Amino acid sequence: MTVQLQISESPIKRLSPEAYQKIDRELAKYPPDQKQSAVMSALRIAQVEHGMVTPELEEEIADYLGMAPMAVHEVSTFYNMYNLRPMGRFKLTVCTNLPCALRSSNQAAEYLKHQLGIGFGETTADGVFTLQEGECFGACGDAPVVLVNDHRMCSWLSNERIDALLSELREQANEGEA
Ligand code: FES
Repeated sequence: MTVQLQISESPIKRLSPEAYQKIDRELAKYPPDQKQSAVMSALRIAQVEHGMVTPELEEEIADYLGMAPMAVHEVSTFYNMYNLRPMGRFKLTVCTNLPCALRSSNQAAEYLKHQLGIGFGETTADGVFTLQEGECFGACGDAPVVLVNDHRMCSWLSNERIDALLSELREQANEGEA
């Protein structure tokens, strides 16, 4: 008589236990039957850990939150703060919406392109900077504004301030600081 062993395969987890703890903290903010409300936070946590949101991470999040993977993908593709491809060490997002455009954001964007030698959607050859356009950050009065890695807002960007910002970030990249 042959005995067949059934080995249940547990799916490979790409998110760390620490990432799951952070997602759990977000989940605690919502009723148990509204787990999907934490999807944006979960995507952010995944991106911070992996540098980008991959289809595998979307699936893992979908599974954890009880959502369809496509529903998670719809969120990650709707908001441009989610990186769906590898980015440079520093992602510089320039707001080019009308209120900022009226306050010289296009000139700041052109100066950034010139100084970095790349266009929107591109990454410098050394992998330090990715430049992209963004939608309103709610800081229209401070234009031109650039968001560094979706987190740090840099305002009133004259050419001099852009040069200072790029020098500072290059220095950080050289020092290997986070
Ligand atoms: S339009 Fe640029 S921050 Fe609002």
